[in-house]
Amino acid sequence: MTNKLYIETVGCQMNVLDTEMVVADLRRHGYEVVDSAAAADTVLYNTCSVREHAEEKIYSALGRVRLIKEQHPGMTIGVMGCMAQKDQQIVFDRAPYVDLVVGPGQLHQLPVLLEKVRSGEGRQMAVSLARSDGTQDSIRRSHETFDPLRDPTMRPTPFQAYLRIQIGCDKFCTYCIVPMTRGPEQGRSPGDILAEAHILAEQGCKEITLLGQTVNSYKFVEGDKTTRLADLLRAMHDIDGIERLKFVTSYPKDMTDDLLETIRDYPKCSPYLHVPAQSGHDEVLKRMKRGYTLSDYLQMMDRIERILPHATVSSDFIVGFSGETEEEFQASVQLVERCRFKNSFIFQYSVRPGTKAAERLPDDVPREVKARRNQELLAVTDIIAMEDQRKLIGTTVDVLVEGPSKRAVRQGVQTELIQMLGRTHDDRIVVFDGNRRQAGQTLPIVIDDANSHTMTGRVKTVELVSIGGVLRS
Ligand code: SAH
Ligand code: SF4
Ligand code: F3S
Repeated sequence: MTNKLYIETVGCQMNVLDTEMVVADLRRHGYEVVDSAAAADTVLYNTCSVREHAEEKIYSALGRVRLIKEQHPGMTIGVMGCMAQKDQQIVFDRAPYVDLVVGPGQLHQLPVLLEKVRSGEGRQMAVSLARSDGTQDSIRRSHETFDPLRDPTMRPTPFQAYLRIQIGCDKFCTYCIVPMTRGPEQGRSPGDILAEAHILAEQGCKEITLLGQTVNSYKFVEGDKTTRLADLLRAMHDIDGIERLKFVTSYPKDMTDDLLETIRDYPKCSPYLHVPAQSGHDEVLKRMKRGYTLSDYLQMMDRIERILPHATVSSDFIVGFSGETEEEFQASVQLVERCRFKNSFIFQYSVRPGTKAAERLPDDVPREVKARRNQELLAVTDIIAMEDQRKLIGTTVDVLVEGPSKRAVRQGVQTELIQMLGRTHDDRIVVFDGNRRQAGQTLPIVIDDANSHTMTGRVKTVELVSIGGVLRS
C-alpha cells in the first residue's frame, strides 16, 4: 500500500534542499507525494527558527492539521528542520498530536522513525547534540549531512539544483539561532561534492548553486591539501552540461581576491554575490559580533568593483537590532545608497531564545520603529534597484529559462504560449512571452521595461535582411 505524503517547507535554501532529499528517500520507501494535507497519510513540516514569525506560522499550520487528523485518525504528523532541533520536547508540549520531531542533522532516520510510529511504538524524536553537550567530535558527528539522494522531480525546475558544500555555522552572530540548529561548521569532502555535481549534470541540470551558511568560508583539509571554494568552482567548471555556477551565502570577511578572480576568469561562474552586511554602523556590527567593520565591508566592495566591475551584489539587513539608534539606522540607509545592491532582504530584529543577544541585549526598539525602518530601507533599496535595472532597457541579456512566471502559474494558464520566467547570469529576473518548451534553454532577450524586481523583455529574433534578393540572417 502506498503511503501518501504531504510536505510543507519554510526557511532558507538549506530547507528546500533537505525537502528534496527527504522526498527522494521516502519515495524509495514507497511514499507518493500529494498536494494537500487532507489527502495525505503522512504530513511533514520542514521548519525554520530564524525569526519568531517563521515558528508561529508552523504552530498555526499544526493547529489546522490537527482538525484534519481528527477526521483521519491513522495520520502521522512530523515536524522536521530547525524548529524541531531548537524546540524538541516543546513541540510535543505545544502540539500533543505531533508524532515525530526530527532535527536537520537526523533526516536520514526519517523512514525508520515513521515506520516506528505507524507500527505503534509511539512518539519518536531524533535530534542532534547541543553545542555544549559533548566533545567537539561527537557534536560534529551528530549533525550528519544527508546529501547523496537527488530527485530532479522535486525541484521547481530540473535544470537548476542546490548542492550543499558546507553544513552548520561557527560565526555565532549574537542574534542568530543557526549555529545552534545546524551545528558546527563542516565542509563536505570535495570528492563527494564533485560526484554529486556530475550526477546533477547527468540529470540535465544546467545551473548549480552551492550552498553554505558562510559558503565562501568553505574549507576542507585532507592530509596536506586544503580545498577552498575557488578550487571547487574551478573543478566544477570542467563538467559538461553545467552552464552556470552560483554560491550563497557569502561572509564579507572571507571574500578573497582569489575567489573573485576565479569568478572573473571562469565564465560559468555567475557574476553575482550575496554577501549580507546586516548593518552599516560599526557599533551595531560590534553588538551583532559580525567580525568586521563598515570600512572592511566597503573595502570588500571596492575589491569586487575592481576585479568584477559588472557583478551584481545583494545583501541582508536587520533593522531594529538591540539599541539601534536613528543615527545607526541611517548608516544602513547610507550603505545601501553607496553600494547600490541589486536587492536586499530586510528583516526586523526578532529575539531568538538561546542566542547571546537574547541573554545579554534588550530588545528595546519598539515594534512600530522597526516596521518604519524596514519600510524606509526597503524604499531606498527599491528605488536604487529600479534605477539600475532601467539602465538595461534596450540591451540584450542571456536568460536561462526556468519555467512559467508566477503570474502565469497564479492565473492557471494551461496553453503552450505563456509568460515565462528566467534569470540572467548576474541573477536578474526576466519575464517574457514564450512557450513552455523553452524551459532549460538559454535565450537572448531584449529588455523592454523594468522595475526594481523584474525586467520584461522579448526573445530576440534573428533579423532577416534582404540583400540583392537573397535573405541573409
Ligand atoms: N548565513 C547567512 C544567513 C542566515 S539567516 C549569513 O550569515 O549571511 C538569513 C538572514 O536572516 C540573515 O542574513 C539575517 O539578516 C536574518 N536574521 C538572522 N537572525 C535574525 C533574527 N534573530 N532576527 C531578524 N533577522 C534575522
Ligand atoms: Fe547566522 Fe551569522 Fe552564521 Fe549567518 S554567519 S548563519 S547570520 S551566525
Ligand atoms: Fe531557518 Fe534553519 Fe535556514 S533557522 S534560515 S531553516 S538554517
